[in-house]
Amino acid sequence: MNSSAHFSSHSSVHKTAHEANHGTAQAAASASSHAAETSVVTSTTQVTSTTSRSQAIAQATASSTSPTASETQASSAKSPSDQASETQNRKADHLRVCLEDDVQFHRTSSGFERYRFTHCCLPEFNRNELDLSTTFLGKTLGAPLLISSMTGGTELAQMINYRLAAVAQQYRIAMGVGSQRVAIENPQVGSTFAVRSLAPDILLFANLGAVQLNYEYGLEECLRSVDLLQADALILHLNPLQEAVQTRGDTNFRGLLDKIAQLCRQLPVPVIAKEVGNGISAKMAQRLIEAGVSAIDVAGAGGTSWARVESERAQDPLQRRLGATFGNWGLPTADCVREIRAIAPTLPLIASGGLRDGLDVAKAIALGADLAGLALPFLQAADESEAALVALVDALIAEITTALFCTGTSTLEGLRAEGILVPI
Ligand SMILES: Cc1cc2nc3c(=O)[nH]c(=O)nc-3n(C[C@H](O)[C@H](O)[C@H](O)COP(=O)(O)O)c2cc1C
Repeated sequence: MNSSAHFSSHSSVHKTAHEANHGTAQAAASASSHAAETSVVTSTTQVTSTTSRSQAIAQATASSTSPTASETQASSAKSPSDQASETQNRKADHLRVCLEDDVQFHRTSSGFERYRFTHCCLPEFNRNELDLSTTFLGKTLGAPLLISSMTGGTELAQMINYRLAAVAQQYRIAMGVGSQRVAIENPQVGSTFAVRSLAPDILLFANLGAVQLNYEYGLEECLRSVDLLQADALILHLNPLQEAVQTRGDTNFRGLLDKIAQLCRQLPVPVIAKEVGNGISAKMAQRLIEAGVSAIDVAGAGGTSWARVESERAQDPLQRRLGATFGNWGLPTADCVREIRAIAPTLPLIASGGLRDGLDVAKAIALGADLAGLALPFLQAADESEAALVALVDALIAEITTALFCTGTSTLEGLRAEGILVPI
């Protein structure tokens, strides 16, 4: 499945990536890191790779109707095209709110600060020879990193996805796109998700809300989402709190586990169950594993709070208050990882939710995660520039490498050895 080589050092990642960029398809050139002045052409406007945040947000929202107007439409009266534009407006809102407002948890933390590594004063190996490569769902990655599912469906989203894909390909790290419901409702925006030509070698995840299986979605919509990306797996996100806070959110979660189980049997690619920032308990993980999911992304509390995001964009005072009240709700990421690993020793497991540096990543791996996902930090960097994205991945890799070096651990798995990570 994967033609990329195992990377043995940081610098070799750069070299191989540079070579890979030169071999990438023509379509990739517009968004590659070597095309800083090139435009990303969309159906209605152009978004250059040097576009500033405010310009890009203005462009992304200019072509859609006002979110406030769409919020006031009664859902029962909605035509398919009204529904499609409401979903698109919501996607534009999510990017705007996440980039401009304070959307992170205030009182609940990811839990990684409750652990520290045991320092080793004599590592007895060369830091420059450390190998961060790993495999997940059968594909080789240059480092145990995932750009978590975020966006698609608008012009700004396309620019962000293309930039993220270029850096994911450069470093051979995994990437997810945001919910593809907007592209199911309006296939014209499918191109805003279609990053495979930019990142032919990466582990790439499609994404849909699991609750849509209760709103007329089934195997066909899941297959279309996977096919659009030539994805390696489908993430089904579980977001009850977000739907509860969202105005007219989809809150009928009845009987979903059986539908997830049926989908796991039918879909030709693995299904990954993921929260969106409120965490998955060991008990729920067990049920999802029994239903047949191939992997779990805990997406725990401590980072982006979707109750806060939906509260910020809600017009209705009740929904605004609801989001504020539940802004700190959820299971800390570190606890989810540790508890799920205890009941599922071999499950492919992703830690995400509030990871903000490579030390958090190293702690997540020490607690049992195979991959570590970050969303908001990648969004902020992608919004700034391709150079900012490269700087972020370089920093994460340097931090993970230093955690290995200064614990005297020569492999990622070694971080899990007794006494390396200890509770404070
Ligand atoms: C702008 C934005 C949009 C998101 N959209 C989705 C989505 O469509 N599907 C999904 O599974 N998660 C989505 N997420 C949630 C992230 O994948 C992640 O689980 C969550 O933000 C916690 O990670 P963080 O603290 O690193 O941001 C989104 C996050 C952001 C910041």
